[in-house]
Amino acid sequence: MMGEDNMRIDAQINKAVALLRAGELVAFPTETVYGLGADASNVKALEKIFAAKGRPADHPLIVHIADVGQISDWATDVPATALALAEAFWPGPLTLILKKAEAVADLITGGQDTVGLRMPNHPVARALLREFGGGVAAPSANRFGRISPTTAAAVVEELGTAVNLVLEGGQCAVGVESTIVDVSGSAPVLLRPGMISVAALEAVLKQPVRLENLSQTRVSGSHAMHYAPQTPSKLVAGVAAVGDITTPCALVFYSSISKEVPGMQYVKMSANAEQYAHDLYQVLRELDKKNLSQILIEAVPESGEWDAVRDRLSRACG
Ligand code: TXA
Ligand code: MG
Repeated sequence: MMGEDNMRIDAQINKAVALLRAGELVAFPTETVYGLGADASNVKALEKIFAAKGRPADHPLIVHIADVGQISDWATDVPATALALAEAFWPGPLTLILKKAEAVADLITGGQDTVGLRMPNHPVARALLREFGGGVAAPSANRFGRISPTTAAAVVEELGTAVNLVLEGGQCAVGVESTIVDVSGSAPVLLRPGMISVAALEAVLKQPVRLENLSQTRVSGSHAMHYAPQTPSKLVAGVAAVGDITTPCALVFYSSISKEVPGMQYVKMSANAEQYAHDLYQVLRELDKKNLSQILIEAVPESGEWDAVRDRLSRACG
């Protein structure tokens, strides 16, 4: 059986590589969320990503690579800080923003002089990138502004026939998008919190990582409403702070409930930040299908390990 499964996976990877070489789109699993991939050196293929997602053309894309040796294909003036972070966290949920190499397409950089690079840690993504050989540009495989998909079924819900092939890779282990750190300037700057925390970055770099003033850089995730369910969603300070509600309504919480409000659906999340992040998008996606009038979400702790979850919750709630 094992051998047959492996053969099926190999056949799917071969098919995906052929599609990428032909300038078509392939959705694939990573450890964070599913990506919508195209050959990063083919402008016609890159245009299809923007069409499929309904994404504005000035929003830059991350280039996914199989090996640190490929950094120099896409970036130049790579600082020691970048290599230290790659060494510590790749393959893994970290994107590095670097000075772009000359040939990198404007559709990838959003017309900026930097490029985002990431080496994902998922066996299917790694096999795809290794067999393809080049860089694969991939945003999250959702329609613009929607919740990122963490299962293959969610990709199909989001993109339907706009994608030629969705590689199956189970539910994403991390569940929220990669940490993005800009190492193209004189000091490292965090552009998007992820499950690799600021503390973990600083432990490797032995210097502080600044937090970006998000209004200034063109990071599509920094738009006020992003990663958002379509059901009106609201953060509440704690389960006791739930005031008047319009039913049907759901409360997503991680602490504990002493008294239930009639008409409320209770969705218990883990009190562990990693497990919470793993489950979050799938929970929101399922709740979004229930025609609720409101989704209430209990605010999570202020500590660093919750940074990524807190960031995504505040975006989901606008
Ligand atoms: O975990 C992830 O990073 C997933 C998986 C598929 O790898 N990808 C992902 O891509 O989240 P996307 O396009 O949904 O978000 C990438 C973010 C965007 O907010 C984009 O603006 C930012 O990365 N970005 C990419 N290149 C950039 C650059 N050169 N400068 C600043 N921000 C950049
Ligand atoms: Mg996205």
